[in-house]
Amino acid sequence: VSHSVLHTPLCDLVGIRFPVVQTGMGWVAGAGLVAATCNAGALGILASATMTYDELVKALAEVKASTNQSFGVNLRADAPDAAARCDLLVSEQVKVASFAQAPRQDLIDRLHAGGVLVVPSIGAKRHAEKVLDWGVDAVLVQGGEGGGHTGAVPTSLLLPQVVDAVAGRVPVIAAGGFFDGRGLVAALAYGASGIAMGTRFLLTSDSAVPDAVKGLYLAAPVTGTVVTTKVDGVPHRVLRTALVDKLESSTAVTSLPRAIANAARFRKVGGQRWRDMLREGRAMRKSSEMSWAQVLQAANTPMLLRESMVEGNVEAGVMASGQVVGLIDDLPSAKDVIERIMAGAEATLSRLEGPT
Ligand SMILES: Cc1cc2nc3c(=O)[nH]c(=O)nc-3n(C[C@H](O)[C@H](O)[C@H](O)COP(=O)(O)O)c2cc1C
Repeated sequence: VSHSVLHTPLCDLVGIRFPVVQTGMGWVAGAGLVAATCNAGALGILASATMTYDELVKALAEVKASTNQSFGVNLRADAPDAAARCDLLVSEQVKVASFAQAPRQDLIDRLHAGGVLVVPSIGAKRHAEKVLDWGVDAVLVQGGEGGGHTGAVPTSLLLPQVVDAVAGRVPVIAAGGFFDGRGLVAALAYGASGIAMGTRFLLTSDSAVPDAVKGLYLAAPVTGTVVTTKVDGVPHRVLRTALVDKLESSTAVTSLPRAIANAARFRKVGGQRWRDMLREGRAMRKSSEMSWAQVLQAANTPMLLRESMVEGNVEAGVMASGQVVGLIDDLPSAKDVIERIMAGAEATLSRLEGPT
């Protein structure tokens, strides 16, 4: 990079050339996308929340066969086998463990003892303060415009709030709404150390999402997403489809029977047995005070996402997406995305400097 501000503390912490992260999107961020991202100089994060332990073992081998660069793995802190997965990350010398929610202290300690960096995603300032006390290595801040599970505060407000709360103790990675070099420079101006993107990397030729699904994303306008709690009980930003409209108009009385029916319909697809699901459900209730209806809905979510993101069935599935989808209309390679962002950031910085 010719502007030295584009080489940030995040680059040094995780060992990447560019301060850009591809996030661990369930069913989307597989070995191919992760390796392509890492080989292009950014940090790729493998999605393992939707993988079995054995699938994760296989995917780790695939990533390592295609790149010798640092990469990360996204995990569910409340997964029944979270500790075993952390041990696997340690034995495989994975650089970064990323978590959708704050991981327990014992998991953080386990990862740190094995030299793995811990980077939780947060959607509120108070979460930043909490995880800093636990000794995380960086935080990924996702503003409300971001895809998937999301909060109510937009990136433009949450990012400066969190940067101030963190006060330089660890690098802050900005997420939610980023897609170009101007956004990277803006994030750095707010005090972030880099950007992370989900939707932009989903819409690359390196992501394995079926073409019909990518087509639907490309056609979506900036107003084409909605935040719904009807998928799994917590706010989830998804493409607005006929199925989502139907879920949105359903009442609490009809949603529990539907959740049970869906769980029964999908349990074979997921290979998840009822016994495992109940065990996991109990753990989820304990960790997040969810109702059984929410637990069942949550158990459905991976299957509803899989139906579209893997099977290509856009009518029966749910598609997580950021609002930035409305600003994206092409399917470049991950390498092109990263190169464009860095070239755009350099040009933006030159423009801000004015004629010398
Ligand atoms: C299809 C999709 C699946 C996602 N799955 C996960 C996940 O499994 N774990 C996670 O921590 N975040 C997940 N996210 C959130 C992203 O990691 C990221 O924070 C978000 O996409 C950033 O906003 P953007 O879409 O505007 O770039 C997902 C997002 C999308 C779009």
